[in-house]
Amino acid sequence: MTAKEKIDQLRADLHRHNYNYYVLNAPEISDKEFDSMMRDLQNLEKEYPEYQDNSSPTMRVGSDLNKNFTQVMHKYPMLSLGNTYSENEVTDFYDRVKQSLNEDFEICCELKYDGTSISLTYENGKLVRAVTRGDGEKGDDVTDNVKTIRTIPLLLHGNYPKLFEIRGEILMPWKSFEALNNEREAREETLFANPRNAASGTLKLQNSAVVASRKLDAYLYYLLGEELPCNGHYENLQMAASWGFKISEHMKKVHSLEEIFEYISFWDTERKNLSVATDGIVLKVNSLKQQKNLGFTAKSPRWAIAYKFQAERALTRLNKVTYQVGRTGTITPVANLDPVQLSGTVVKRASLHNADIIEGLDLHIGDMVYVEKGGEIIPKITGVNKEARGMLLGEKVKFITHCPECGSRLIRYEGEAAHYCPNETACPPQIKGKIEHFICRKAMDIDGLGPETVDTFYRLGLIKDAADLYNLKADDIKGLDRMGEKSAENIINGITASKEVPFERVLFALGIRFVGETVAKRIAKSFIDIEELANANLEVLINIDEIGEKIAKSIVTYFCNPSNRKLVERLKDAGLQLFQKEEDLNEYTDRLAGQSIVISGVFTHHSRDEYKILIEKNGGKNTGSISAKTNFILAGENMGPAKLEKARKLGIKIMNEDEFLALIS
Ligand code: IVH
Repeated sequence: MTAKEKIDQLRADLHRHNYNYYVLNAPEISDKEFDSMMRDLQNLEKEYPEYQDNSSPTMRVGSDLNKNFTQVMHKYPMLSLGNTYSENEVTDFYDRVKQSLNEDFEICCELKYDGTSISLTYENGKLVRAVTRGDGEKGDDVTDNVKTIRTIPLLLHGNYPKLFEIRGEILMPWKSFEALNNEREAREETLFANPRNAASGTLKLQNSAVVASRKLDAYLYYLLGEELPCNGHYENLQMAASWGFKISEHMKKVHSLEEIFEYISFWDTERKNLSVATDGIVLKVNSLKQQKNLGFTAKSPRWAIAYKFQAERALTRLNKVTYQVGRTGTITPVANLDPVQLSGTVVKRASLHNADIIEGLDLHIGDMVYVEKGGEIIPKITGVNKEARGMLLGEKVKFITHCPECGSRLIRYEGEAAHYCPNETACPPQIKGKIEHFICRKAMDIDGLGPETVDTFYRLGLIKDAADLYNLKADDIKGLDRMGEKSAENIINGITASKEVPFERVLFALGIRFVGETVAKRIAKSFIDIEELANANLEVLINIDEIGEKIAKSIVTYFCNPSNRKLVERLKDAGLQLFQKEEDLNEYTDRLAGQSIVISGVFTHHSRDEYKILIEKNGGKNTGSISAKTNFILAGENMGPAKLEKARKLGIKIMNEDEFLALIS
């Protein structure tokens, strides 16, 4: 076989396996075999650059060489759909269609996917262009990024038209969304509010290799072209499925209004079990001929309508804004609302986040506001219905200047959105919040103690800070709030047992602003004991890996406060582990000092997490993505093709488990 034949064969096989895996969910080969074929193809393509092909499966791994996006005119404008939240308007739509057509017709019911829309152009079975909606007339050419989405075919199979466009929605599945936000949280980056924002943000990234790592998905729902195979929308999409596209399995052709409402009510609850976000259903007249007869208004087709699920958003009155004080003094404004039904629960309060959001909404007391749940857990205010404002405009909401709990003047650090109450040691919610944080599972993990018990102890003056817990006796607390002798003893035992909690968790328990679990671990490894940490200056702290100026400043500020120093002193006297234990210290080396290491694949000797710990204990840094700064990759079986390609490009060493263990032993 010639090299060209081999390349062609590998490309065809990989396209087929990609389709089986991602579109049909029915892989025929193992991930390992897939990766090894991909590697073979990458090597051949490198060796024979003359056979370069923009539709090659190797395009899936993306690259970091993408330029700015160019704007492209849409051949057919990308119109939106008429939207409604009202079932009556669905009936009106149906009646209008019936009257205009004056003949039998079918309606295709579909899910309304909540992502970002895309228009794909295929020429001779090849994906040639992917363009965002933009302003409907022209959008951004994001072809390189879209090519990394595995559910979008680069090459088609079967009997497809020579030239056509297919439109659909690019989505970030809930699972990928949660994983992405967890990673961002760990890196203290701003979180995406919902999968839609995450998908559209990802699609606009300059680096398609990062897009490839974000695991986007896509559903296609609209075929356009001069030579479509069938006369019906539904039938055309079934054909598109046979060419390799991912088409929703939940489309349904119906013949009556009753069936439409059945579809709506079924999916209103059932959609919660889907892997991607949906925000309604779309109804389309199925026959293309009838669609043509019905035509378009300036903004949307007369042959389709979107029904948005009701409970996602509600309109209600803003009665007042109150302010909550968190354990680190962060002030969160909370909208107090007329109770309203939203996604099956009654919402009375919603977060307003910070002063900028309030200002941006131009909020006034008495305003009718939109509350949404979206992908978020806590409902939020997304807008104001300004038309509902009468002649008498309520008072403008102005962010408070003083702490609602202790009266201290609030501060706002430069470059930060939040206001803080600086009275760390005497502001009641901060004190209670700090004790609650101190006892939580990831910190001191004190059995039997919860926020309510802390509240009772605090209210009765039994504790004023975390150190007071260690002076409690069973006799002090038994009988309080129906607490029996046994429970009281359990709590005291739990408190005593917490004296064995290791240094890193005690550090986390102190609740120093910006010192989360990971940072606490880092610090615990860099200082022998709390004294050394308390006396460290900014420069020393900034020199520690992963500790930036913000964290360093926060640590210095914490230890500058005499009450914090006193608290630490008392905790030490109580017997807490505020130092690195000898046996823990012995496990640490600096064999990997200054090295940035990426872990990839599946391992046999240790789990991924154990390797992470081993890297850290030997002074190395485990990072999530490969960059020029990566020193080596600790690779197990099935290392992803994207990572492999990137490592190869950057010339980064790949080390297997045994080599790694030998290195640190
Ligand atoms: S059809 C001319 N079908 O909803 C009609 N759109 O405002 C073209 N969407 O921009 C759209 N799921 O991004 C259609 N099954 C579906 C859809 C859908 C989601 C999005 C699309 C469009 C918006 C409607």
